[in-house]
Amino acid sequence: MNDEICVDVRDLGQRFGTMPFLWRHVTFSVRRGQTIALCGRSGCGKSTLLSIVAGWFSPTEGEVRRPDKARVSWVFQNPYGAVYRTVLDIAAYPLITRGWRRAEADAEALRVLAEFGLDELRDRLFAELSGGEAQRLMLVRAINSKPDILLVDEPTAQLDSKTALVVDDKLVALAGRGAAVLIATHDRRTRESCDRVIDLDTYSVEEGGGDEAT
Ligand SMILES: Nc1ncnc2c1ncn2[C@@H]1O[C@H](COP(=O)(O)OP(=O)(O)OP(=O)(O)O)[C@@H](O)[C@H]1O
Ligand SMILES: [Mg+2]
Repeated sequence: MNDEICVDVRDLGQRFGTMPFLWRHVTFSVRRGQTIALCGRSGCGKSTLLSIVAGWFSPTEGEVRRPDKARVSWVFQNPYGAVYRTVLDIAAYPLITRGWRRAEADAEALRVLAEFGLDELRDRLFAELSGGEAQRLMLVRAINSKPDILLVDEPTAQLDSKTALVVDDKLVALAGRGAAVLIATHDRRTRESCDRVIDLDTYSVEEGGGDEAT
């Protein structure tokens, strides 16, 4: 695994219409293997920053650079288009789009679902899941797409503390397999599990518990 920079955020600033800037001069980079927590009060612009990194819209100022072929995956709270599909279908889908055969994709998807305590829900429709179940399923889907860059919005907000720890561990493990992981969160434990913390309220960058911080 190399330590290639996957996300390079340079002098980013964002404002909507005539509102004041949410933040300006935000600069950081994320390498393969790193987990970064984006923190700050509700409304400070965490989800906005994730959307800009995902390439959904251009920032008011500055730029985000990503390697040309980087595969970006994201986990947001309200996935559309998934409502009437089964849990197994949703989990297996990214494997099938990567060329796996149906039976093998199902087996692998079930294995990952089990890690998240979701295998018994395999035949349930997405619409029938609880908020926290839906969120974990979206994480399984994102993991199965083997992203270079994973963007996650509030992954533990709806989870009990034990399930939240499992999710934190999975995110760190995904980084360990070479992904650059960017997590917007209010959760102290998620923050502590990350290599670095970027506080959008103050734009300060503190070193976290990880072994590397650049
Ligand atoms: N497209 C938009 N047009 C106008 N204002 C927007 C737009 N998107 C976001 N905002 C505003 O920008 C601010 C930041 O929103 P954002 O969703 O990024 O906050 P957040 O830090 O993710 O908050 P939370 O912790 O509550 O999820 C909010 O005041 C929001 O209303
Ligand atoms: Mg948000």
